[in-house]
Amino acid sequence: MNKTDVIVIGAGAAGLMCAATAGLRGRKVVLMDHSEKLAEKIRISGGGRCNFTNLNVRPECYLSNNPHFVKSALKQFTQFDFMALLDKHGLTYHEKTLGQLFCDQNSQGIIEMLKAEVNLGDVIWRMGTEVIAVAQVEGQFQVTTATEVWLSDALVIATGGLSIPQIGATAFGYEVAKQFGLNLQPLAAALVPLTFQAEDLWAELAGVALENVVVSCENTSFRESILLTHKGLSGPAILQISSFWQAGKTLEIDLIPDLDLADFLRTANRDALLSTVLADVLPKRFVGVWLAKYGEIRPLKQYSSKELQRLESELHQWHIKPSGSLGYKKAEVTRGGVDTDQLLSKSMMVREIPGLYFIGEVVDVTGWLGGYNFQWAWSSGYVAGMNI
Ligand code: FDA
Repeated sequence: MNKTDVIVIGAGAAGLMCAATAGLRGRKVVLMDHSEKLAEKIRISGGGRCNFTNLNVRPECYLSNNPHFVKSALKQFTQFDFMALLDKHGLTYHEKTLGQLFCDQNSQGIIEMLKAEVNLGDVIWRMGTEVIAVAQVEGQFQVTTATEVWLSDALVIATGGLSIPQIGATAFGYEVAKQFGLNLQPLAAALVPLTFQAEDLWAELAGVALENVVVSCENTSFRESILLTHKGLSGPAILQISSFWQAGKTLEIDLIPDLDLADFLRTANRDALLSTVLADVLPKRFVGVWLAKYGEIRPLKQYSSKELQRLESELHQWHIKPSGSLGYKKAEVTRGGVDTDQLLSKSMMVREIPGLYFIGEVVDVTGWLGGYNFQWAWSSGYVAGMNI
């Protein structure tokens, strides 16, 4: 039997941050992960360049059953604190768009930085380690692996969500939560492409990108680009809205949010084909397929004002009902998770079970696309690390 102060299960974004923080405070930490490879999700993130945080991080950018829950951790360890860590390690970064920060030394730079911090904290590594059982024995936590048994005062669950099972995502954290009698908010794939029926339409439009559109669902809207694919819709605005979408709900898409179409058509060449006129404001292939709905494409002057009104309202308010999503295989994150009502927001400890912590994506906190999810992993990992 081995004895330690802290066991962290999951050496991803949150687990690395937590282990390093606790180790640097002088706590004896063991960091376990079933994967041989370190932090695979960081590696593949942001197309390999890791969108590690966002300049505009604020509580409103997170979904949770309790929208106030994130405030404490985000305040205790901010995006600027993480940027300072990069500075300390000589890493550089740049803003791509909408406050999204990417590492110039790619994802590997971030992984090496976190690994170095963990090593500074003298943390004991246990990569490639399958956890067989977790139990609470006389106020301590007992973690049994294939080859060892560890006892600790504190146990941190940082095993992430269900997305991308191909690189090691499991339901472990949710199972441990259930084992300890904790409630879970319903899980769903989020930041994920949405699928639709009417496959012929999608096949014709596959590959078309529409910039600067507004996608809305219920009372939430995002203005970014969308991408039409063989199966449906993807692109930043769709990934964002997917976190708010629920089965059966309809999306509303404004394809030309800044354009008064009637005004635009008044000054256009009335002898030109409507497709030629619209190709100035929308991709040509999209216009061709879209206008085919109204019959043969004619010169602008041959369209009745009623037809043009219908066109305008459909371009501003395209209503479509997704049939589903591409699921966990393609989702960036999992929505839902360990109910925040059971956790202390200052430390991430389970209220009723001193010494047990949940951090990162396994918790019912889901950030917007754009570096917000990593910031949650850093912030929640840090506060747990400071309190264990
Ligand atoms: P994370 O998934 O990072 O780590 C969990 C760890 O637990 C893994 O190392 C895993 O092997 C381990 N584990 C799982 N089950 C286990 C078990 N049974 N036993 C032991 N270990 C176990 N976010 C962002 O802010 N910016 C971005 O650019 C991107 N890009 C991006 C791209 C793609 C393709 C995906 C899938 C996701 C993103 N994300 C992102 C989201 C981001 O990767 C995610 O929110 C964080 O990695 C979550 O950090 P965690 O530490 O909670 O889980």
